[in-house]
Amino acid sequence: MAVVAGCRTPFAKAGTAYRELTALDLARICVRELAERTELDPGGIDIVVMGQVVPSVKAPNLAREVVLAAGFPPSIPAHTVNKACASSNQAIVDVASEILNGNAEIGIAGGAESLSDVPILHSRNMARAFVGASRAKSMGDRVRAFSSVRLRDLAPDAPAIAEPSTGLSMGQSAEKMARENRIGREEQDLIAFQSHQKMADATDDGRVGRELVPVLPPPSYQPAIVADNLLRRDTTMEALAALPPVFDRRYGTVTAGNSSPLTDGAAAVVLMSEARAAREGMEPLAFIKSWAFAAVDPGGQLLMGPALAIPMALARAGLTLADIGIIEMHEAFAAQVLSNIQALESEDWAREKLGRKEAVGKVDRSRLNLSGGSIAIGHPFGATGARITTTLANEMARRGAQYGLLSVCAQGGLGFAMVLER
Ligand SMILES: CC(C)(COP(=O)(O)OP(=O)(O)OC[C@H]1O[C@@H](n2cnc3c(N)ncnc32)[C@H](O)[C@@H]1OP(=O)(O)O)[C@@H](O)C(=O)NCCC(=O)NCCS
Repeated sequence: MAVVAGCRTPFAKAGTAYRELTALDLARICVRELAERTELDPGGIDIVVMGQVVPSVKAPNLAREVVLAAGFPPSIPAHTVNKACASSNQAIVDVASEILNGNAEIGIAGGAESLSDVPILHSRNMARAFVGASRAKSMGDRVRAFSSVRLRDLAPDAPAIAEPSTGLSMGQSAEKMARENRIGREEQDLIAFQSHQKMADATDDGRVGRELVPVLPPPSYQPAIVADNLLRRDTTMEALAALPPVFDRRYGTVTAGNSSPLTDGAAAVVLMSEARAAREGMEPLAFIKSWAFAAVDPGGQLLMGPALAIPMALARAGLTLADIGIIEMHEAFAAQVLSNIQALESEDWAREKLGRKEAVGKVDRSRLNLSGGSIAIGHPFGATGARITTTLANEMARRGAQYGLLSVCAQGGLGFAMVLER
């Protein structure tokens, strides 16, 4: 299973560069450019799968709308998946599975998110009144439909980044993990600082830029957005240390600086069967060797899924952590990265959770998130998985690494890991 190419839009803080765009706009721009860059005949695409976490109620099947809006043949089947922050990883797995089953040879997988364009809901009572009014036969009935509406019913109901089962937000869950795993503020700030530094280096030497697709935002379509806007080159450990904790204002350690920000963006990859890639004369960046999904109880430590998924994916690939040349770990929060690393390196954790004596292995920090991570780059929920896959595959090709590993944590206690090979 070949990863042939990948790209993404620049990532932008929600409510900034892309405030007039939708997730569909971003996904269409990204997917169309991907097809052009790879000189892919759209008529040869067998399947398109996209991930999105907060879908539009008007166009819930993003992937199908992308096919139509990009001007691809309408005969291409397409579906959209939601596995929270691992959505575009699921999209990649769906396309890979179709190819492995022999049902497809070429597919596009990716995802998009616009947190500038989230659906704002009405209260149940208000919605009932609207429906009643739409069915009313007279002006009087229409007015009466609103008679039960109270002032409090007018308050909008925006989607929350919280666990439906526990009510805890992602940030509160990260705070809980930091507390229970005794992860200090300075350690977290260091992860954030390094994320910005590594991303600045990767931006300066062109590693970031080659993955970016320019976006021309309406209404004036200028200036073109050609760079991410969340990178803070001037971040220092002192500036990070001065930020107040957000999710536990009194005793907390999780801040705006050591959390991934709310982000808009899209990313996608082209996958091909190895035989088809050879026939098309394509030089694959890397090959998918294994993957694994895992899940933990959201009432425990919510974002520990990767520490379970990683050993599963490694075992399926017949590898250990020591074999891995480059690791891409999604940084939802520095506390989550550090908690997962701690678990992977812990014998106690391996005994309790995996029923094995030895720890999963040492995470070599000099091989981790070499171009920065989601804290500095940003995290459009539906796009991050494809962003990480592209970066890992590109970096493996650049460094000649034989094996690469990626992981993503997600709402609901979900975790994902994938091993790539060259
Ligand atoms: C943490 C969070 C609430 C912060 O949101 P925000 O307040 O809009 O963040 P901002 O970018 O405005 O940053 C707040 C302040 O910190 C400062 N700041 C942020 N990062 C900084 C850095 N690296 N260095 C220095 N200052 C920084 C900002 O400049 C801003 O300062 P100001 O108030 O003086 O303007 C938001 O990003 C969030 O909810 N993140 C988590 C998302 C999430 O749950 N994702 C799911 C993961 S699975």
